[in-house]
Amino acid sequence: MTDLKERIAAQLTAVRDRSLAYTAAEDDLLVRQHSPLMSPLVWDLAHVGNYEELWVLRAAAGITPLRPEIDDIYDAFKTPRRDRPSLPFLPPAEARDYIGGVRGRVLDVLDAVDLADPSPLRRDGFVFGLVIQHEHQHDETMLATLQLAGRPGVVRDGDLPLGRLPEGPEEVPEEVYVPAGEFLMGTDSLPWAYDNERPAHRVDLPAYWIDRLPVGNAAYAAFIEDGGYHDARWWTPEGWRWRQENGVFAPLFWTREGGTWWRTRFGRPEPVPMDEPVQHVCWYEADAYARWAGKRLPTEAEWEKACGWDAAAGRARTYPWGEQDPTPELANLGHRAARPAPLGAYPGGASPYGAEQMVGDVWEWTATWFDGYPGFRAFPYREYSEVFFGREYRVLRGGSWAADPAAVRTTFRNWDYPIRRQIFTGFRCARTATPEER
Ligand code: AVJ
Ligand code: FE
Repeated sequence: MTDLKERIAAQLTAVRDRSLAYTAAEDDLLVRQHSPLMSPLVWDLAHVGNYEELWVLRAAAGITPLRPEIDDIYDAFKTPRRDRPSLPFLPPAEARDYIGGVRGRVLDVLDAVDLADPSPLRRDGFVFGLVIQHEHQHDETMLATLQLAGRPGVVRDGDLPLGRLPEGPEEVPEEVYVPAGEFLMGTDSLPWAYDNERPAHRVDLPAYWIDRLPVGNAAYAAFIEDGGYHDARWWTPEGWRWRQENGVFAPLFWTREGGTWWRTRFGRPEPVPMDEPVQHVCWYEADAYARWAGKRLPTEAEWEKACGWDAAAGRARTYPWGEQDPTPELANLGHRAARPAPLGAYPGGASPYGAEQMVGDVWEWTATWFDGYPGFRAFPYREYSEVFFGREYRVLRGGSWAADPAAVRTTFRNWDYPIRRQIFTGFRCARTATPEER
């Protein structure tokens, strides 16, 4: 096998090991719906196998369907998450059998395929990248379900580097400066990039400042304690309505007891660590915080330029630190621990402009609605990205601790409804530079 084939095989195995570990629970936990926002876990499990069958076996290799009668059950567009418990989905043992059978054939296809074949599905192993990234995204979704279910012991609570909080403003700046100018947004060259990351295009931005680090729990608690959730000035009208209708006063999973903030993490209560990025806030909360802080959320373009643009080299990087694959010293990715790392834990992962922790830890809300770039073309299907374009979903960037390096890069785009909080999401703030600052 070639190096690329070996890498694909190893990535297929790694992601599957994780999916099976997250579903190695009693059947009752797997078939139950833990929240109307989520699918039963065993639905996610067989859905990734069905997706792999559709794209690798049928579309790329022309193999006859193994179980065409179950396609509709696992079509995410036929049944919304809230209604999935009533589907006749495969019970856990049968689901494991089915996805194992698909996987065996996928490995045979990988063995035989010519990765230099110009067919866009096969070239550079695109279709394998598609299913690997898809399964990683569903693993993150499964973790969100397990967090909602309060299930302990799913992710080992591994060690993370220590944080490095500034001792004085001159030592480590709170914000980094990004001078005015064009940069190249998106990509034409990353072989496994999604259609929504293409094509690369020039974007001209005025000068701005962006927070060096994500907003931390201490700063967020100060917003709460300053009455931020009770002051309509900080909220958009839709955000204020959402806050009032839902009686929200703190991030999801937070409670206040005897003057201390507590959170529940995979079923275990613990004091909120004040030096971690805030997590489990929706877009409305992030937007309100930013206004309270005298700032705003970065646009998606501002986020990407601060993360990946290397002005000196005149090119965009794959990761903030360069082209090297992520390591435990560079970013908190890949389920290494079941939480974000302390602020300042990754000075070596800084972007050319000096922004840190842009990749890993928490997804970051941006001000931008999810839409296609100029010249967008749907590939390989409209339902991955295009049907979500418009003023309904906000873009999330950077990837969380529960995202995998295979599905994270400076150009990677995620999106969700502005009310969503069960995902592993935080944010950082930005502001336009004043004329005197330029
Ligand atoms: C890109 C995370 C919004 O989970 O809805 C999974 C990814 N697409 N199956 C989602 C996805 C098809 C998607 N997000
Ligand atoms: Fe899916």
